[in-house]
Amino acid sequence: MGRSSRISGFYKLSPSERQRVLADWASLSPAQVASLEGALELSQADKMVENVVGTYALPLGIATNFVVNGRDVLVPMVIEEPSVVAGASYAARLARAGGGFHAESGESLMIGQIQVLELADVQAAGRKVQSQKQRLLDLANSTDPVIVSLHGGARDVEVRTLRDSPRGPMLVVHLLYDCRDAMGANMVNTACEALAPLVEEITGGRVNLRILSNLADRRLARARCVVPAKELDTENTAGALVAQRIVEAYAFAAADPYRAATHNKGIMNGIDAVALATGNDWRAIEAGAHAYAARAGRYTSLSTWSIDPAGNLVGELELPLAVGVVGGATRVHRCAQVALAIMGATTARDLAEIMVSAGLAQNLAAIRALATEGIQRGHMALHARQVAIAAGAVGDEVDQVADALVQEGAVRGDRAQQLLANMRQSKSRP
Ligand code: MEV
Repeated sequence: MGRSSRISGFYKLSPSERQRVLADWASLSPAQVASLEGALELSQADKMVENVVGTYALPLGIATNFVVNGRDVLVPMVIEEPSVVAGASYAARLARAGGGFHAESGESLMIGQIQVLELADVQAAGRKVQSQKQRLLDLANSTDPVIVSLHGGARDVEVRTLRDSPRGPMLVVHLLYDCRDAMGANMVNTACEALAPLVEEITGGRVNLRILSNLADRRLARARCVVPAKELDTENTAGALVAQRIVEAYAFAAADPYRAATHNKGIMNGIDAVALATGNDWRAIEAGAHAYAARAGRYTSLSTWSIDPAGNLVGELELPLAVGVVGGATRVHRCAQVALAIMGATTARDLAEIMVSAGLAQNLAAIRALATEGIQRGHMALHARQVAIAAGAVGDEVDQVADALVQEGAVRGDRAQQLLANMRQSKSRP
């Protein structure tokens, strides 16, 4: 039998005890464990972006209980918001009871766009591009022999006509490019730039932009989970009723863009946290996700929730996930490497399948809480710790001040300062 990601009491351990459990679980070397704290040296950071003066750390938590395609997985999440890691772990436990997450992803196909203007006949120009497809593909593939040797590279050329843009009609040439295990922005942009002169020669037009599209709708990932209704039982409410309320919450997001934005934000809490942990471009993922959510002309929920004939809650999520396990920050940042090792994600598709599962888990955690006790109860307990720290509490004081704030139902900075001052004063008394 393999390792179980159901590590009971993980949350009760200290960070260094958790590191020990994790190292054992994922067979991490001492150097990998050391990378969990401060993995980016200033000299490396200086090569990543401009005008570097420092590095910026965020908490890295481990979501437990995940089963993705039959495999137990621990999911590293980098996030500043309380409750997300706990919520993902909780929801993964619910999904686990129904067999975990079933996820799939397609080829790593990115779209590069070439904008062509000043065309007498846009349709005819499009036909000319189609007739020269092979020449364009060959040229695109000549820009990166390595990706071609890895069975990736340019796959197809498509044309779209934009009839009424603010600058009149234009042709858009789409280069479909298989990026394999890379996110692929650089290789796609390089190929598009290389194609521009040939596109001008073929069409007789003028090329303006040559850039990948973040609406990576040829690189979709999907996850599905089934939660037995009884798993959703709460102290006061039967699981079947909770399931019904979760579906009602989904219906709200499906019908209302104001709610859908927040519903999808909950999904992205899970996805972005894994993207950050693995050095992936979360802005690209965000852009793609929200554009995909509006693909039918109206912004809506990225996930769907329903109840199957047996009364189980069924959740599904589909979105574009342009992520890589090689290149970019993923290669430079040692912590990103360790995060991939923890998940056992060796391909971009493995990673996308875990990420989409984390997104669905996070969505379930949020809407389950919202449809039952509300999110403030759990959230406030964790938020109180941040408020206590901000008020200057250290060590044991953090939990003592946080507990008192929650008990009083007043999670505020000024009250935390008072409590801390009182606590210190009574300790200093003989
Ligand atoms: C907070 O970060 C995310 C939620 O607002 C998501 C949701 O409302 O579904 C709780």
